Amino acid sequence: MRMVDLIQKKRDGYELTTEEINYLVEGYTNGDIPDYQVSAFTMAVFFQNMTAKERADLTMAMVHSGETISLKEIEGIKVDKHSTGGVGDTTTLVLGPLVAAVGVPVAKMSGRGLGHTGGTIDKLEAVPGFHTEIENDEFIRLVNKNKLAVIGQSGNLTPADKKLYSLRDVTATVNSIPLIASSIMSKKIAAGADAIVLDVKTGSGAFMKELEKSKELAQSMVEIGNEVGRRTMAVISDMSQPLGLAIGNALEIKEAIDTLNGEGPEDLQELCMTLGSYMVYLAEKASSLEEARTLLQEAIDSGKAIETFKTFLEAQGGDASVVDRPEDLPKASFITELEAKEDGYVSEIAADAVGTAAMWLGAGRATKESVIDLAVGLVLNKKIGDQVMKGESLVTIHSNQEDIKEVREKLYDSIKLSSEKVDAPKLIYATIT
Ligand code: URA
Ligand code: CA
Repeated sequence: MRMVDLIQKKRDGYELTTEEINYLVEGYTNGDIPDYQVSAFTMAVFFQNMTAKERADLTMAMVHSGETISLKEIEGIKVDKHSTGGVGDTTTLVLGPLVAAVGVPVAKMSGRGLGHTGGTIDKLEAVPGFHTEIENDEFIRLVNKNKLAVIGQSGNLTPADKKLYSLRDVTATVNSIPLIASSIMSKKIAAGADAIVLDVKTGSGAFMKELEKSKELAQSMVEIGNEVGRRTMAVISDMSQPLGLAIGNALEIKEAIDTLNGEGPEDLQELCMTLGSYMVYLAEKASSLEEARTLLQEAIDSGKAIETFKTFLEAQGGDASVVDRPEDLPKASFITELEAKEDGYVSEIAADAVGTAAMWLGAGRATKESVIDLAVGLVLNKKIGDQVMKGESLVTIHSNQEDIKEVREKLYDSIKLSSEKVDAPKLIYATIT
C-alpha cells in the first residue's frame, strides 16, 4: 500500500477500505507516514467527506493506536458523558453523583486542560483534601463500592488522535465533521465506555456555533457509536449564554451542591435531568426515559444524590463538610457587583467573552503553565430574557485582585440590554437517538 494512492483515492471522492484506514493510522502513529502526506489527506477529507463506515473505521483505528482502559472489573454498564465544551458547564460535577445515586457506575477519567475555568479535577480540588492520585485498583474498588470515582488521565490513550489533532490545528482542518466525530468518539471508547451520552453545545459560546452543524456532528457521533457497538445518544443544548449562573471552580462546586439538592439554576437543573435520564436509561437502570427521570428526582428529593457526593469526596480524601457548609470553600478577597447602567431586558450574554473575563480573574488556564485560583470567578445574577433595573447587579465578581477594570469592561461589552422584552433561549434544541 502507498499513502499517495490513498490520498488520491480520497481526493477523488472514493471510499477507503478498513485496511487502508488502518494502514494510514498505524503508519502515521509510528512515524512511517509523514505529516505532509497526512495533511494532504485531512484536506481531502475536508472537501470530500467520509462515509459512515469510514468514520467508524477511523474511530476504531485511533482507539487501537494506543492503550485502552478496561473497566470489565466494574459491575454494570459503564456510561460516559461527554460535552463538546462550553462556559460554566457544571453538568459533570452534578451528573456523577446524581446517576451514581441510582446505581449507575461512573468511572470518570478526567483532565485539567486549558480553558475559562479548570477541568473537573481542578474544580473538585476546591474541596480541601480531595485528590485524584489513586491507583487503578483503588479506582475500580471505589467505583464498585460507591458507584463513583474520579481519576486523573494517565496512559497513552489514542496517540493517533493527539498527533492528528495537532496537525489539523495547523492545517485548517479542525472543522471537519467526520474528523471531529471520530476524534471525540475514539477518546471515549478508549477510556472504556460501554455507552455514551453526548451533550453537543450550540450557539455563540460553543465550538459548533450553528444549530445545523451541531446536529450533523451529533448525528455522526451517534452513528459511529452504534456502528461500533456502543449505544450512544445525543442532546443538542444551548450555549448562546453560559450554563447555570456560576463560572469558576469553587463557585461551580457550590452550584453543583445546590443542584444536587434540587435548588440549582433552572437551566442547569433541567439539562442535568435530561442528560442523567439518558445515562440511567442506557445503563439499563430504567426501562424508559420517564422512569429514569423519576428515579433521579427521587434521588434528589430523598437526599441520596447529595449523600453520594459526600461519600465520593470522603473516599478520595476530601472534607465533605463543605457540602453542608459551602462557605468553607476557598473564598475570594474582593466581592463586587457589576451594576446595570440602564433599565432593560438582557438580550445577550456572550458566553465566550464572559468565560474570558473569568479566565482573566484566574479561574482558568491560558497556557499549560498558568496557575488556577480556585476561589475566583463570576456569578451571573441575570440571564437572557430577565428584566433589569438601572443599578441592579448583573454579575457578582469574585476576585483576588483589587483592580479589575479590564474584567468589568469586558463584562459590560458582553452583556447587552434591550428596551424591548426578550424571550429566554430554548435550552434543548434536539435529541438524537
Ligand atoms: N474536540 C476533539 O476532541 N476533537 C476534535 O477534533 C475537535 C474537538
Ligand atoms: Ca455554571
